[in-house]
Amino acid sequence: MSIQTIATRPFSDQRPGTSGLRKKVAVFMQPYYLDNFVQALLDVLNASGGPDVPRESGGSGGSGGEARALAGQTLILGGDGRFFNRPAIQTILKLAAANGLTRVVMGCGGILSTPAASAVIRRRQAFGGILLSASHNPGGADGDFGIKYNMSNGGPATETLTEAIYARTQVLNTLYCSDAQDVCIDKIGRLQVEHMQIEVIDPVGDYAAVMRSLFDFDLLSGLFASGFLVRVDAMNAVGGPYAKQILEGEIGAPLDSVVNFAPLEDFGGHHPDPNPANVDDLIYRMSSKGMGAPKLGAALDGDADRNLVMGRNFLVTPSDSLALLTQYARLIPAYQGGLAGVARSMPTSTAVDRVAKALGIPCYETPTGWKFFGNLLDAGLVTLCGEESYGTGSSHLREKDGLWAILFWLSVIAVTGQSMESLVRDHWKTYGRSYYSRHDYLDVPVEYVDTLMKDLHAKLPALAGQTFGRRTILVADDFAYTDPVDGSTSSHQGVRLVFDDASRLIFRVSGTSTEEATLRLYMERFEPDPACHCEPVALAVAELSALAEHISKVRVYTRRAGPTIAT
Ligand code: G1P
Ligand code: ZN
Repeated sequence: MSIQTIATRPFSDQRPGTSGLRKKVAVFMQPYYLDNFVQALLDVLNASGGPDVPRESGGSGGSGGEARALAGQTLILGGDGRFFNRPAIQTILKLAAANGLTRVVMGCGGILSTPAASAVIRRRQAFGGILLSASHNPGGADGDFGIKYNMSNGGPATETLTEAIYARTQVLNTLYCSDAQDVCIDKIGRLQVEHMQIEVIDPVGDYAAVMRSLFDFDLLSGLFASGFLVRVDAMNAVGGPYAKQILEGEIGAPLDSVVNFAPLEDFGGHHPDPNPANVDDLIYRMSSKGMGAPKLGAALDGDADRNLVMGRNFLVTPSDSLALLTQYARLIPAYQGGLAGVARSMPTSTAVDRVAKALGIPCYETPTGWKFFGNLLDAGLVTLCGEESYGTGSSHLREKDGLWAILFWLSVIAVTGQSMESLVRDHWKTYGRSYYSRHDYLDVPVEYVDTLMKDLHAKLPALAGQTFGRRTILVADDFAYTDPVDGSTSSHQGVRLVFDDASRLIFRVSGTSTEEATLRLYMERFEPDPACHCEPVALAVAELSALAEHISKVRVYTRRAGPTIAT
């Protein structure tokens, strides 16, 4: 076993997006593609001067014996189990061992859900973690793969760090890699590659301990003992083992509550993106009546950080979910002292803003992507946060957390005795309803989307103050954000039109698509009058949708008759 020095050449397309580097599996399988990115990451980390690490501490082999911050440090490693997860783990172990890392803690089988990875990093005070996932993107040999780095707070790397990694990929010419044999990652225990120790752990243990510390498991057991039924679709992705152990194993949900629970490399052909377009079976089951019908339905995504929740025949939007969790947070042991504040991404509806106002706590509006919540959580400015894209979470981790949201909803139901539908309808009565819809135009040629956004941008100065039918535009801008903690700025985060009736239209280009471009149009119509809270959503936002087309000509620019997905 020895460390090899291998010549390589940069790949020009290794800039991380909204959540790490995501590409087609075939791209990742090119010789050295993954290796280059990981080497660049390790180079940047080694040069960073980590916490409490003397600069002169060297370690064996690797990039020439200069001071390296990874010496003496632990990294966490795991992924969502999709195709290419296992070979990628072996490659990363060999690179990490050759670059002076002292210890890796990894999930058995190479498995760690994204929230579990965040939990392990935090509980074990690791230097950081490497997460292998393309989240809700399709899996399998023809699907997507992804890699991202999370920092010692358990949260996604900052833009400064991801930009440094990208810069390094563009000048990289040398890899340091052990020529050791592949190791067996399927047994809990200890291994070694070069001088690097590897601890293979139960992927669920740390995460389950965090859940036990937040929620009243006895209360939840009581709910199930009383006959409550839940149905959680894990979409044959990584969330299955977590949901099975915690819901069925620890709090007594009936044995068939978690379906599609075995993680498969191709997610069993499911598209593990928990939005209404992909959960027909769940929606069908939740429409059934009678004794055996579940009262709470939920679905998780590929890496188990997203959640969709619904009651009987009643879908809850992620924006409403965040607002209701905020409203009822004091019922949960971990939040009974109240919330410091809340945060939502800019396109997420303003439902949570109204609850925050009533509670007298601040509500922050951030750009899209969980990384923007990290500083707010670290500084103790917010306790809960969420995004319209089926993500909710809290200060317990630095990632969104699908199963946490399910446990939270179950707790609220257990304490209040109300159904999801009646909880949400009561909320609308008190705070008004934000009708919400997102239209996605997938795989549009990049130049069409670029031209659309450029032309829309040029129209912005003239749009403010204009009246369209019964609505006048109050704000027309390209959202920019200044982080209140470190003062860093992020611009061009989406075009935003805010109307005088508090309705909003938002146009944004996705940062996670792996082919061509994805344009997202977000529509929010605020309706304070309880007499108008029963319209079908598509009808309720039809006028806004027509207005969006009138102003932006999305269908003309994209050469599409309509959105690929409307949720
Ligand atoms: C999407 C979601 C965003 C989420 C991200 C990672 O990013 O819209 O809210 O944080 O996935 O899960 P987008 O493709 O819009 O850039
Ligand atoms: Zn995800």
